[in-house]
Amino acid sequence: MPQTEEQARKGLSRRRALKRLSAWGILVFLAAQAVIWIRALFPRTRLEGPRFLRAGKIPDFQVGAVDQRFLSSHRVWIVRTREGIYALYARCTHLGCTPAWVKTVKKFKCPCHGSGFALDGTNLEGPAPTPLERFPVSLDREGRLVVDLGRRIHKRRDGTWSGPGAFLPVRPGGE
Ligand code: FES
Repeated sequence: MPQTEEQARKGLSRRRALKRLSAWGILVFLAAQAVIWIRALFPRTRLEGPRFLRAGKIPDFQVGAVDQRFLSSHRVWIVRTREGIYALYARCTHLGCTPAWVKTVKKFKCPCHGSGFALDGTNLEGPAPTPLERFPVSLDREGRLVVDLGRRIHKRRDGTWSGPGAFLPVRPGGE
């Protein structure tokens, strides 16, 4: 039976609608692919993880003490001395275990193969080849200590540190 003009028009508009639908489908697919690519380019930590730890005001840290409040959450110790403050990365430089602060001997001791580190992070004993790393520290406008967890600083052989923020000087009794 021959198609009427009306039937032919309906068929044409159905084909056009299908074409539009598939064009939108392709666009949505490409957009989803682009999102996947962008996520792959920027690691999860940069998109989702907080890079900057706002640890508190200077008086929150006791002189001579190793602050362990952020050990389990951020793997960082904050150490305040008479001269200033710094943040150590709690990762053994031998094979990556988490050392423990042993107050009685004033050392960070690694439970895995016995490496020991001084209060400033220097490797003292065991197989650890280098000192503990540090995270840069600074103060924000409100005077809170900010630890940049996205960068690490290494101690050089001459005893200096490889980047700014390895040590934040604090006046005695300073805030
Ligand atoms: S991982 Fe710390 S001593 Fe081996």
